[in-house]
Amino acid sequence: MSDQLIIFDTTLRDGEQSPGASMTRDEKLRIARQLERLKVDVIEAGFAAASNGDFESIQGIARAIKDSTVCSLSRANDRDIARAAEALKDANRARIHTFIATSPLHMEKKLRMTPEQVLEQAKQAVRFGRNLIEDIEFSAEDGYRSEPDFLARVIEAVIKEGATTINVPDTVGYAIPELYGEFIRNLRERVPNSDKAVWSVHCHNDLGMAVANSLAGVKIGGARQIECTINGLGERAGNCSLEEVVMAIKTRKDYFGLDVNIDTQHIVAASRMVSQTTGFVVQPNKAVVGANAFAHASGIHQDGVLKARDTYEIMRAEDVGWSANKIVLGKLSGRNAFKQRLQELGVELDSEAAINQAFTRFKELADRKSEIFDEDILALVNVEGAQH
Ligand code: KIV
Ligand code: ZN
Repeated sequence: MSDQLIIFDTTLRDGEQSPGASMTRDEKLRIARQLERLKVDVIEAGFAAASNGDFESIQGIARAIKDSTVCSLSRANDRDIARAAEALKDANRARIHTFIATSPLHMEKKLRMTPEQVLEQAKQAVRFGRNLIEDIEFSAEDGYRSEPDFLARVIEAVIKEGATTINVPDTVGYAIPELYGEFIRNLRERVPNSDKAVWSVHCHNDLGMAVANSLAGVKIGGARQIECTINGLGERAGNCSLEEVVMAIKTRKDYFGLDVNIDTQHIVAASRMVSQTTGFVVQPNKAVVGANAFAHASGIHQDGVLKARDTYEIMRAEDVGWSANKIVLGKLSGRNAFKQRLQELGVELDSEAAINQAFTRFKELADRKSEIFDEDILALVNVEGAQH
């Protein structure tokens, strides 16, 4: 099995399904260029048959992007698939992603189709798509709540028809990591031609486990593609977050043993771009891209980090595109962090006693003010007779 993990970004498709997150054609193109800079393997640019706007936006992205594969979603019918192929016709590398629901609940209540009809439609869709484009991904919508025997039959059949990627989504975010990982592994064992396709995971975050489930799908299940979005944007509670899953794979390479192409230095810029474009604010304590992700506030932590960064940092802020980690001065800060900030500000106090006095005043101020800014410190030390 390959050691390479494919990163499939669906910010522009599933991400846009987040209520209030719709983006214009130009905004999508700008984000697609940033995803290419990030070296995302596959960019799902939209759903060509959904609207003329979506079609044109996919077409524009397909023409502009050279390094990443550009993909369009389509339902499992000839009209949608032909529309997707048309939108992608100028792409350097193109993929059609076709899907149909396979869970009893969705087949009976939503599609009002029998399992045999769904099986036939899935086969027909992949056959039709394969005549237009070589790279065909098939998704079994609500795959995780599907009956494994039936799902295995569908997957075996669509691989025979030429599907090159098989995606087993946890559409409603119902999975638990170990169970999802085992579900994928069992399916792969059951499907006789499973090694003819790349297996993929697509997890929603309804129970806050999208990243953990995706990683289990890879580690336990043997999937080699993760579908994710910048900032975890997506339908309802969102999708697996690209920045978290990528940094988990990179930081714990000792455990996962996998490589990803992502150029992580562009992560923070991508996160900000998506946040500014959609107006969805990134929470300060969000892993990797939140404003506090590399901020140290307690005196003990600050002291540790000033002595050796890996005491309290498992990855480098600079590696994901922050200019540096952040020592936040406040009432929990120690003398060492205070002294270091004075040095950074170019302030030289003439004696240790002067530093101690300034530190005492700093602590008094910090009891009244939750965060101390550089201007506060400069004001403080001016009173102490600083030379700067
Ligand atoms: O969540 C889901 O099942 C999807 C599919 C269309 C892949 O987004
Ligand atoms: Zn989804």
